[in-house]
Amino acid sequence: MSEAKDPQDTCVLVTGGAGFIGSHTVVELLQDGYKVVVVDDLSNASERVIDRIKTIVGDAAAARLTFYRTDVNDREAMSAVFDGDHIDRVIHFAGFKAVGESVSKPIEYYANNLGNTLTLVDVMRNHGCKDIIFSSSATVYGDPDSLPLTEESPKKPATNPYGWTKWMIEQVLTDLHTADPAWNVVLLRYFNPIGAHPSGLMGEDPKGIPNNLLPYVAQVAIGKRACVHVFGNDYDTPDGTGVRDYIHVCDLATGHAAALNWMNGRTGVEIFNLGTGRGTSVLEIIKAFSLACGKDLPYQIDPRRPGDVDANYADCSKAKREMGWVAKYDIGDMCRDSWNWQSKNPNGYEG
Ligand code: WQD
Repeated sequence: MSEAKDPQDTCVLVTGGAGFIGSHTVVELLQDGYKVVVVDDLSNASERVIDRIKTIVGDAAAARLTFYRTDVNDREAMSAVFDGDHIDRVIHFAGFKAVGESVSKPIEYYANNLGNTLTLVDVMRNHGCKDIIFSSSATVYGDPDSLPLTEESPKKPATNPYGWTKWMIEQVLTDLHTADPAWNVVLLRYFNPIGAHPSGLMGEDPKGIPNNLLPYVAQVAIGKRACVHVFGNDYDTPDGTGVRDYIHVCDLATGHAAALNWMNGRTGVEIFNLGTGRGTSVLEIIKAFSLACGKDLPYQIDPRRPGDVDANYADCSKAKREMGWVAKYDIGDMCRDSWNWQSKNPNGYEG
């Protein structure tokens, strides 16, 4: 059980803190006064992110940041991290996250995502730390029976190993609390994270051909890709293209800060949807990004992508009611910030 502590007296370990959502959350926590320890093996992130974080927050806050280039699955190294700092809370982002890749590499996905979680919580337990926020995903809802999705909406069988790892890690953490009620677990189910830090210094930087819509659209906008491929226009949606609940990555960051504050002095397992409550179609995204970058982006209609659902979007009233958190950015803001990042960093963090 976490004793209620103020941010300036609290040290938060952020696994995967050099990643897209992790880095934006680290900026938010440092600006809120927390001491932050980042663990990241840089398998899917650039070490330049750490310097960008320090530039954004300034020297005083950057003095409260420690970075370890470490695999969360490395038990000895993780024990040393917990020996080096008194860790009060953990936010667990680290994990492979490409849906398509997970289908072709199930062993790597289960070994990495489940393995690093089991190592992490065992090391936490051995150091008396039982307060964890997990980076989960709306993917655990599968193909919705009804919309909007609430935290009571049923979890569905996943359609890929990536989704199963999110599903299973939620179960692992729930079983931890059942075995030892002192555990304090918050499961944050993100919808579709997009956008970038308004400074243009941090953003999404996928390796290779982007799997997700927004980074692909952004690369069309800078001329790196020829046109946007719209995966199907015969869905049961207003314009026939897929509808998702896109949420600004900076809104996700404040959602994690709100969860840290909310979990103070609590135990239990609590689930929160982090979305905007609004659905946006692929064609609407293309139109919004065209406005943001000042040019009509070319697209073509392709066949559906296997496993895609027609629509999903969140009911986020619980996060507002319980944590006082509401997403504040709209699609125009998300496309504006994404374009600002992409146009200033055409090759991401690799200069
Ligand atoms: C969005 C919409 C596609 C690409 C996944 C994971 C989720 C999270 C976010 C990690 C869909 C369409 C896409 C393209 C397209 N992952 N699309 N052309 O599949 O909703 O969610 O990514 O955190 O857990 O499940 O996101 O961006 O891939 O697709 O038409 O080139 O865009 O069909 O309707 P998705 P997405």
